[in-house]
Amino acid sequence: MRKLGILTGGGDCPGLNAVLRAVAKTATAQGYEVIGFLDGYSGLVEERYMILNTAAVSGLLHRGGTVLGTNNRDNPFHYPVRAGDNTAYEDRSQQALVNMDRIGLEALITIGGDGTLAVGRDLARIGARVVGVPKTIDNDLAATDQTFGFDTAVTTATEALDRLHTTAESHHRIMVLELMGRYAGWIALQSGLAGGADVILIPEIEWKLENVVAKIEERRRHGRAFSIVVVAEGAKTPGGEWVISRRVEGSVESVRLGGIGQVVGQLLEETTGIETRVTVLGHIQRGGSPTAFDRVLATRFGVRAAQLAMEGTFGVTVCLRGNEVAYVSLEEATQKPRGVDPNSELMAAARAIGISFGD
Ligand code: F6P
Repeated sequence: MRKLGILTGGGDCPGLNAVLRAVAKTATAQGYEVIGFLDGYSGLVEERYMILNTAAVSGLLHRGGTVLGTNNRDNPFHYPVRAGDNTAYEDRSQQALVNMDRIGLEALITIGGDGTLAVGRDLARIGARVVGVPKTIDNDLAATDQTFGFDTAVTTATEALDRLHTTAESHHRIMVLELMGRYAGWIALQSGLAGGADVILIPEIEWKLENVVAKIEERRRHGRAFSIVVVAEGAKTPGGEWVISRRVEGSVESVRLGGIGQVVGQLLEETTGIETRVTVLGHIQRGGSPTAFDRVLATRFGVRAAQLAMEGTFGVTVCLRGNEVAYVSLEEATQKPRGVDPNSELMAAARAIGISFGD
């Protein structure tokens, strides 16, 4: 029987299961068996997998997370080998190739963000037949105009802003909402626009406290004693520093961002004298059911990835170009992350309606 392998790597994201379902349905209809590796690349290195037949993917379309499990630490080229309390790192990439051959895979479909796709690219360089599917709530991948999971994260963050609005207004407070997005401000910008934020602080724009305070004071002068401030976790402090919440050993990303919301909240309360509260939305942005948009995009990506794998187009990742699903080489896709363009029409629209970016 002809076989395709598939895995989900990096942080999870709404829509992953929809991709698995689409790949399984598309490939099974052509007589293929789909092997789903468990827990990212570690399932490939350790040969742990499940068969993704039609029964296994039934009911998955609307489920968040990934039934395969995921892992953002186990890179086959820098593989953690644990002995008691100690961890050593070894290159297990050849093992991954041997396993793919032994199982008889025609191709490996790897669904992930920049770290997972970069490993896919590196496996392709040493001879593996790889097709990528870009995913992340952060929407920061150069490969594609949009990733699935992003729309769900923005929708969740917008709902949080709607809720913060009513309590902010009642108490005449400043509400600061810290959102995810790593070093890109996409989630903060889009949900800030959708949720009527007064100030949005993003990593792509240097901000000054006095400018944010001026915006809040202007609102107070016009009789609006409350303000909504959205802060991307990757926004820097006025001193130009990222706020790091933890260090993660063995992960592609060695640090996790977090804490800038608290810094901003404290500065604003001290400077304006207005009572301020800070909410960190955290992983709520990543969990739960994907929006209709993300289900459709994930399905289109899954179908196209399966088709590319079956027709023998390797070393590429599917992507969205405008409204069309296309593909680009993994080499090109993994060059550098895509941040918000400060000169874009989207930013100009936000500025035109009076949103302050603190610059
Ligand atoms: O890349 C997705 C993301 O949710 C980022 O927005 C966030 O910085 C990071 O992952 C959090 O990672 P972890 O799940 O390891 O805390």
